[in-house]
This record gives sequence, C-alpha cells and structure tokens, in this order.
Amino acid sequence: MLINAAIRLQFSPLIPGGGQAVSDGSMIEVRSPATVANMVCGFDVLGFAVEEPYDTMQLQLKDEAGITIIHEDHFGLSIDPLHNVAGVALIAMLEEIGRQDIGLELRIRKQIKPGSGVGSSAASAAGAVVAANELLQLSFSKEDLVRFAMHGEKLASGVKHADNIAPCIYGGVTLIRSIFPLDIVTLPAPDLYVTIVHPQIEVRTSDARSILKQHLLLRDAIRQWGNIAGLVAGLLKNDHALIGRSLEDVIIEPVRSILIPGFDEVKKRSKNAGALGGGISGSGPSIFMLSSDEKTAQAVGAEMRAIYSAIGLDHHTYVTRICSTGIRTNWTKPNSVN
Ligand code: HSE
Repeated sequence: MLINAAIRLQFSPLIPGGGQAVSDGSMIEVRSPATVANMVCGFDVLGFAVEEPYDTMQLQLKDEAGITIIHEDHFGLSIDPLHNVAGVALIAMLEEIGRQDIGLELRIRKQIKPGSGVGSSAASAAGAVVAANELLQLSFSKEDLVRFAMHGEKLASGVKHADNIAPCIYGGVTLIRSIFPLDIVTLPAPDLYVTIVHPQIEVRTSDARSILKQHLLLRDAIRQWGNIAGLVAGLLKNDHALIGRSLEDVIIEPVRSILIPGFDEVKKRSKNAGALGGGISGSGPSIFMLSSDEKTAQAVGAEMRAIYSAIGLDHHTYVTRICSTGIRTNWTKPNSVN
C-alpha cells in the first residue's frame, strides 16, 4: 500500500524556512541498483544499471536536526555524514533548500561491495537523495538529483563523475554528454543479458584513475570515438552485432587491465562462449560481458568461475539484465500492510 505520508509533515518543505519537520514514523524504502560505468569505450560518459546486485535503504524523518547514518552491513563504512557518500549527497541537497535544521535517519543495507567496480558509492549516494526528494516532497528533477549525488562520487574517488549515478537514477543506459553543465541523454536499453564477475580484490577508483595516461595518440582517439559512436548507434538500432564490435577500449583498458588477474583470459573465453563483448566494469576489478540470450550468459558465467577457481581467487558472478527503471522507491509505515 502506498502512503502519501508527506501530508502528515508539519512543515512545507517546498518553502525554504517552512515550519518544523516532525517524524510520524513513515519512511521511504529504496532499492538502488548496481551500475556498469564506461561500457568499455565510453570512459566517464556511458553507463547502465543492472537488476542485481542492489542496495536497500530506508529514510525517515527524525525530530532532532542532522543526519544519522546507520549501516546494517559489515563493510566498515564511515557513519559520519561528512565522510559517507550518502551523507555528503544529503548535505548538498539540504544546503540547497536552506534546511539544515531537518533531521534525517538513513539505514543502509549494502549488498554491493565497496571497491567492486559496480557503482557501490553511486548506489548509496543516489539512493539517499532519491529517497529524500520523495520523503520531503521536494520535486527536484533527476538531473538535480544527479548533481547532489555526485558529491558522493567526489568523496569516494576525488572526481565528480556521473556514469554510475546517472544510470542508477534514470535506469537503462545513459550518456553523460557533459558534466559542467550537466547534459544527460537516456538511450534505449538493449534486450541483453549481463554476466558480471567480481574477483574478490579491491581496486580503489582513485588509484585506478591515477595510473591513466593524460595524453593520447590521435590514432587511438579516432578509434575510440568510432567505437563510442558505433555503440550508441548500436543501442539506437538494437543491433547486437554492432554493439559487440564497438565494445573495444584502446585507451583505458590496456592500462587498467594489469590490475585485474585473469582479465585477458576472461575476455577471450567469454567471447568464445558466445558473448557479444565486454570489459572492465567501471574502474574494476569486476568484469562484465553482454550476451544476446540467457543460456550464453550462463555459459559465460561458468567460464568466469572456472578461470578464477583455477587462479585460486575468490569471486562472485551474477547473471542479470539491464535495469530499465533505476532506483525504485516505496512509502511504508510501521505496522502497515504492503
Ligand atoms: N568512469 C569511472 C572510472 C567509473 O572509470 O573511473 C568509476 O566507477
């Protein structure tokens, strides 16, 4: 049952400086999906959301001012709002409406492991601001929410990038044509299966960015923008073969792949098993592959498991779909029947 609890709030959050916010126990529950940034050739400009894994979060008002963060997981993340990606995103939003007097309690149950390369920090930051927008009836646009959530990415990686945040909030495949000013284009989500392997090592995004070359050869740039254009065209035409051919990265992958044991083997054997193509998910260490059907996607997962078992590296695999909805929210009230 959906409950519009905002009518119970004793303030008008749309009017900066409105009356006092009082909790009535209502809360917003959020399911915030993992995301695959870059889509191989589109470093910092392309990304898509997946159905699994996802984080769940609950946000409710509390009577005292300030943000309380409770992590109901075992990743040891900071609960200080100033050092938590969800916290800084919420602070940015409350500052914009001039309502730092509002009290919010955020419970986070992460299933997306930090440092896994499938948008863990984005899921927390984006989930928090989407929940607050709804709880406080703020009517911020999705683009505004991306802007707030990028404060979390800045905290996590030192850079405001939106290729995890945007697909997390919009769903499907997104193109970030520009960050300053923000220009986000949603693209058709192809009817494809996604296989992800997460070898259990941590690659910090800030480290994976610091090793990148700052200067490119023109011939590499030409090849890369040909691939990005080909990938976008493939998505628009739902041309799986074109999507597959365009999943090539001559700039970032050659540098970053050395951080991921088994990377070349995963790529080779996944393609032999029928995958269209794939590569590093975000800054790694996860690797993703796209396939046209579930049987192939499962076969790709089996290859990935065989490779990491042989290497002796713990790993998780997921066979999932592109998530076209992005973050899902639900109003709940204690003791209500959903
Ligand atoms: N585009 C970012 C990077 C994504 O590759 O550094 C990080 O998840």
